[in-house]
Amino acid sequence: MSKIQAVKGMNDILPAEVDGWNHALETLKTVLQGFAYQEIKLPLVEFTHLFKRSIGDVTDIVSKEMYTFADLNGEFLSLRPEGTAGCVRAAIEHGLLRQQQKLWYFGPMFRHERPQKGRYRQFYQLGVEVFGSAEPAIDLEILLMSHHFWSALALKHQPELQINCLGVVAERHAYKQDLITFFQQHLQYLSEDEKLRLERNPLRLLDSKAETIQELLVQAPKLIDYISASSRQHFEQICQGLEALHIPYQVNPYLVRGLDYYNDLVFEWVSNDLGSQATVCAGGRYNALVELLGGPAVPAVGFALGFERLLLLMGSQTHGRVLDVYMITQEAQPLSKTHVLAQTLREKLGLKVEVSPAVTSLKSQFKKADKSGALMALILGPEELEKEQITIKYLRQGYDEKQVTILQQDLTLWMATKFGEQRS
Ligand code: HAM
Repeated sequence: MSKIQAVKGMNDILPAEVDGWNHALETLKTVLQGFAYQEIKLPLVEFTHLFKRSIGDVTDIVSKEMYTFADLNGEFLSLRPEGTAGCVRAAIEHGLLRQQQKLWYFGPMFRHERPQKGRYRQFYQLGVEVFGSAEPAIDLEILLMSHHFWSALALKHQPELQINCLGVVAERHAYKQDLITFFQQHLQYLSEDEKLRLERNPLRLLDSKAETIQELLVQAPKLIDYISASSRQHFEQICQGLEALHIPYQVNPYLVRGLDYYNDLVFEWVSNDLGSQATVCAGGRYNALVELLGGPAVPAVGFALGFERLLLLMGSQTHGRVLDVYMITQEAQPLSKTHVLAQTLREKLGLKVEVSPAVTSLKSQFKKADKSGALMALILGPEELEKEQITIKYLRQGYDEKQVTILQQDLTLWMATKFGEQRS
């Protein structure tokens, strides 16, 4: 029988990686709390037409990347390819939109894309959605918050911010028509795929990587010339705010997004360290979506951060110690003294403590302690057990004293002082 493997593009996150994930999520949660955002938990499955209506029928996501199936009632359901549509649905359904809402969610999303580094079929997003304000101040807040993410995580290379203004649907529609007319005059330079794009979703030609398209775009009509004064003013205020906050940014007039619901501000945080899947975080304003999905006319703005890409950026940055203390013992089974001391350290000081699972030779237990990554080993050898003492040995470099023996009754106080020094 052939070996059963994971579905292509759907990854296991192994224990060695989970620590980094948890560290990142906990750090970002603290930032979100600092900005007064509240968590919402959403289902992984929604009715297919929710995504069709919100993300757009002709987008790549809806037209070819969704995991869609008929359930036992014959209803068409899809695994969520992103979180915004479900979050809007939930906010309408539960009447959350009577006041401003600042929400965040975290969880897996599903897109049937061609897997490669940074692009998977199941991937995790941390998403943020704000409902109820059309003010540029709130666009600025989410840009500031995403910028704060990078410093909170102490990323060595911070991603760069690219922004653009898409105007509103009617303006974009007029622009699309002129863009189609322009490219129809240059059809001989377009591949079959690009011709299809021109027909279905002409704006996606703007972020084409093909050189011929990029050259043509220099002469093509520019979206900014179609945008109303009020949209431009909104955008300028965001730019001024970014400057006042000393957040570097680049206006990229060719930045369009793969989802149809945006208007005015769109943005992406891009990193050179990610290869071709360079966008770690992306979003924008979507003032028409709530109403489009049957809710009140409530403006909204948000973004989502790709967690796998974030973890790639964090690379081998340390995420804190998995283990503080490894206990080596010569106590006869069932190790009651050893467990009591270990448990005291966990309960009183919150330390991460592992007890040697077997009473083997001191040498072999030391080897395990060394490998464990713990800061120190606590030793209950025959002499310590007899005299109610315990020996503390530092396993990592950078400490003057290497080994000290104290009374067991003084252990908690002694460790509290040492770990206090460590944390201060
Ligand atoms: P998106 O640009 O489709 O936007 O996805 C946001 C982020 O999710 C991307 O920048 C990327 O980091 C990550 N991502 C997307 N697809 C994959 C994939 N196949 N594998 C790994 N990571 C991926 C949205 O999803 C919008 N809902 C964002 C938003 C929220 N706009 C307003 N509110």
